[in-house]
Amino acid sequence: MPQFEKDPDFKTVILQHFEQDGWTATLAPPNTLGYDIELVRGSECVAMQVKSQRAKVHAGQLEKFIDFLERPAAAKFTRGFLLSASGFTPSVFTYMRTEEVVDVALGSFREDQLVWEDGDIPPPQPKAQLTYIGVFTCKGGVGKTTISAHLAGAFALNGYDVVLIDLDRQSNLRKLLGDGVYIPGRRGGLGATITVLNHTEWREEEYPDTRVVICDCSPEYDANPEAFIEKFNYCLIPTTLNPLGINKNADVIRRTFAAVRRSNSNAELFVIVNNYHSDEPRRNEVLNRILKTEFETLMADDPKCHYIDPETVAIRFSKQLLYWGYHIVENDKPQLAFREIGGRSLPRVDFLKLVDYLEDHTNIETAKAQEALAPNN
Ligand SMILES: Nc1ncnc2c1ncn2[C@@H]1O[C@H](COP(=O)(O)OP(=O)(O)O)[C@@H](O)[C@H]1O
Ligand SMILES: [Mg+2]
Repeated sequence: MPQFEKDPDFKTVILQHFEQDGWTATLAPPNTLGYDIELVRGSECVAMQVKSQRAKVHAGQLEKFIDFLERPAAAKFTRGFLLSASGFTPSVFTYMRTEEVVDVALGSFREDQLVWEDGDIPPPQPKAQLTYIGVFTCKGGVGKTTISAHLAGAFALNGYDVVLIDLDRQSNLRKLLGDGVYIPGRRGGLGATITVLNHTEWREEEYPDTRVVICDCSPEYDANPEAFIEKFNYCLIPTTLNPLGINKNADVIRRTFAAVRRSNSNAELFVIVNNYHSDEPRRNEVLNRILKTEFETLMADDPKCHYIDPETVAIRFSKQLLYWGYHIVENDKPQLAFREIGGRSLPRVDFLKLVDYLEDHTNIETAKAQEALAPNN
């Protein structure tokens, strides 16, 4: 258990600790990206980041800190200190060793003691509304985990820190992404982290940089904690366009809508086509029309149910997504299927489009306001 329930308490204690050690310590101005406290002593100027979270600091968080330190904006800093109230994952130490990181020191703060970790060396915009996205369908194997992970990746590419919550008993997210990953920024910008947690590890106040929480739901509705389903602002329901499955899929989606509505009357529900073969325009057009017609009755009753036309946004079939778990076979570092092949990454384009679509077609502020007006919902 962490000693400090609140991030500011932790920062203050750390600041005082370093001042007693002869450093001049200054809190970074509010909304500063990349570090929390600046330390000056003699010729040293150190950027320090402090993590009060109760889960261990993961390698993605270290990588983000290193990315910050390497930016021209951080040129005045001679090195960085990364302090944690809960320690570090083993992969952080592996990262320090394999990447030969020499200008960052890791410290754990426990029971009023600062311990420098072994030997080697002693967000984007201010947070607005936290958005909860559930990826849910009563059916297995249609892409919930794939979509959760890569949607998180697309938000991270846009500069948002994302928390991915694994609600599925199979824990596939943990297997595929470990404790999390760092997505480097584009055009020299600071990147963002995707942090993987189980539902008991999640506390909003411990991840103040987080803008988006994505839940990879269990296909068994009752296995998903109701407290999460109630929070969803959006719910994404993956499906596929295949002729034999079309009626079955329509029925699955109908049941999925009903299940979500038992606990949440405000979430905007979006059906998204996965495994889309864009080289079959004629067949797609026919299948899409049938599937869409299946939903029209249902959607008429619930104005917050949407069918995303796959011609606008779909997740295309790609070998990258099919094999994206291959790194676990190779014992390789956790990663998303955003690697380019011949300069193009279908998944990256598709998921960035999905992020844009969601931001365009929802109004979270309105949903929240309605919730406040109707406390029984
Ligand atoms: N768009 C896609 N293109 C290719 N393969 C995909 C795509 N989406 C999912 N897959 C593959 O389908 C399988 C099932 O996906 P998964 O996300 O695990 O489904 P779920 O979480 O709903 O059980 C995985 O092997 C995944 O790699
Ligand atoms: Mg899954």
